[in-house]
Formats: sequence, C-alpha cells, structure tokens
Amino acid sequence: MGMTMHLEPEEEKILAGEYGETSQKMLEILVALGKVFGAGRLVPIRSAQVSGASYKTIGEAGLAWIRGLDARVSVPTVLNPVGMDRVSWRDMGISPGFARNQEEVIAAYARLGIKLECTCTPYYIYRTRFGEHLAWSESSAVAYANSVIGARTNREGGPGALAAAIIGKTPEYGLHLVAERRPEIHIRIEGGESLADPAWYGALGYHAGTIAGNRIPLISGIRPGRDQLKALGAAMAASGAVALFHVAGITPEARLFSYTGDGLETVDVSSGTVMAIREEIPVGAVALGCPHCSPEELGIIAGLLSGKRVKIPLYVFASRSVLEGNRDLVTAIEGSGAQVYADTCMVVSPVMDQYGAIMVNSGKAYTYVPAMCGASVRIGTTDECIRVATTGK
Ligand code: F3S
Repeated sequence: MGMTMHLEPEEEKILAGEYGETSQKMLEILVALGKVFGAGRLVPIRSAQVSGASYKTIGEAGLAWIRGLDARVSVPTVLNPVGMDRVSWRDMGISPGFARNQEEVIAAYARLGIKLECTCTPYYIYRTRFGEHLAWSESSAVAYANSVIGARTNREGGPGALAAAIIGKTPEYGLHLVAERRPEIHIRIEGGESLADPAWYGALGYHAGTIAGNRIPLISGIRPGRDQLKALGAAMAASGAVALFHVAGITPEARLFSYTGDGLETVDVSSGTVMAIREEIPVGAVALGCPHCSPEELGIIAGLLSGKRVKIPLYVFASRSVLEGNRDLVTAIEGSGAQVYADTCMVVSPVMDQYGAIMVNSGKAYTYVPAMCGASVRIGTTDECIRVATTGK
C-alpha cells in the first residue's frame, strides 16, 4: 500500500497537463487509485463499462461533472443499464421529466464517444478474450468477464471506469494480477445435476454468495453452460461480493490451473438447500432477463411462448444490440403480449414498482427485487415463469 507507481514517459506528460486538463484529471484518478491499492503500473485495457448512467443515481451534480469533461474515450465503452428503455419509455409509464433528465445524462456520455448501449452484458457486444484487461463496473458483468471468459477486471466505480476509458489504461492491482485470482474457499455441491435450469444456478449463486462473501470460490460438483454460469455469477455478486469464481473442470482458469480445492476451507451445499428458496406465492407480473438475455435465452422464451398469450404482464430485458440482432425472436415474444425492453431492467427502472409480487428466474433479481421494487419475489425456472405468465397462476 502507498507504493509509488511507475509511469511511462507518455503518462508523465498527461499528468503534467500536456494533453489538456481532462486527461490530466483522469490520470490523477487512476494514479490515486493505484496508490491506494498498491498498483505498480498502469495496464492497457481492451474495453470499459461505465456505471453512474442513471440520472436517479448521479443527479445534477454528476451530470454537470460529466458535461465538464473535454475528452474522448480511447477504448470501446458502454454504459450500465439506465432507468428506462430509450425508445419505448412511454410504454413503461416513465414520465417525460424523468426521460428528459435521463437522455441528458446519456447525451453527456455520448459526447465522450461512449457507445449508446446501456447493458450489463457488454460481452455480447464486444468480443472479449481470455487474459485481456478491462475496466468494467456492473457486478454481474465483472463476474462473467473474470470467471467465464478469463478476462481481468476489478469492479470499477463510475469515475474509475470513466477515467480508464478515457486514458485507455487502469492500475494493475487486484484481479488484474494472476496471483490474486486463486480460489480462497471451496464450495462442494451435492446433487448438482438436478440444478440444470439457470434459475437453479441463480438460486445456487444466491446461496453460495452468502457463503463466499468477498472471497473467490472454487465450486465443484456442477457442470454449467454459459447461461447457467451467467446466472450463477450474477447471483453470487449480488448476495455476496464475488467478482471472480471458478468452477472445477469448467471455467478457463480452473481448467488451466487444475484447481482441486486442496488446502482450502470447504463448505458442502446440497441441491435441496438450494431449492429451498422455491416458494409458490401468487404474483402480479413476471420478469426475465437479469442479467440481460442472450440470443439463446430469447430463443428459449420465444419457443415457450409459441401459440400462447400472457394473462399477467411478462417483461423481458436484453441489450439493444441483442434485440436488434434477433428481431424475429422479439416479434415472436411480443406476439404473446409480453413486453420486451432494452437499455434498462426490472431492478433499475421503476416499471416493476406497481406490483406487489414478482416472479423471476434470476438469483440476482431474487436478491434485489424486495428492496429495489418493494415487492415480494418468487423464483422459478424459465418454463415455470412462462407457465405462470400465460395461465396467471
Ligand atoms: Fe443486469 Fe439489472 Fe440484473 S443491471 S444483472 S438486469 S439487476
């Protein structure tokens, strides 16, 4: 802690103000972070994801700060989900005043060269590879990038991610260092084969996150695919503070380093314990897409809805790129009466606040819906969610 960071001659020039005040300020932020966390240098990043995109969170002061910046991002950069769909906000019941303020924040970011994508799944937009350094903010995206892809990012705060996006570098500490990415606790799942649906991986993540806290877990006894890993990591990042996890024999670093859990504290979890959060309460609406849906998940939802009509509101959330690239699936889903939205989600938009109880297939949404939407929450598989949405019970 408190060590001096090595700066390249070019970085020294930025710090001396030779490239303008904004770049100087941004580098000052990175150097300050680096000093606090003991980074030896800055490393180039491949992409950034900036939080603090919601007007509700940053307010007038935050907006004024972004507007005052005179620079462009130097790597591909997206935003976190915001409080509304930028196109269909009226359908969501968003007030014109809220929409105007939100658009002002987005416009201020766009001036900096940030892509107008507001999503927690930047990995569907930018091809992200093993070993690449990133500066991402949203906790589920960070967990996915580190764990499922094997890229390297700390969970950045808004200013740190924006500074990294503008400079194109981030301080090398924490999860950027291979030595800091080893498992710290072993969670052994019994009966893992019964957890196939992403909802049960979400439930497992909800449980495992409370056990792991902010430690890096090695999980064994499960064989998840990518969407299941997405659900697992999102939930662990929400109920705990997990930014990286390994699944024995599955995730890239667990395979590369053949992690076994030897010498680690080991906690056994049975699938029965995981499923115990299943509770069949009546709900007023169903929400899918936390984290934002992959094309495969949209396909599954469209297939399950085929020939059916929704009886209670069904909301589906995904990034704008994924929706635009899968128009046929969106049309099929909307044909049932379901509502499909981009740029936002069930937790960060006010659209779900009108319901007393909400059904989800996500362990992360299960964690956040009670506090953020003021509603009771029920978790079930995607099949069960569609059944409830189309039968009303
Ligand atoms: Fe994404 Fe919103 Fe869930 S940001 S991970 S859909 S709470």
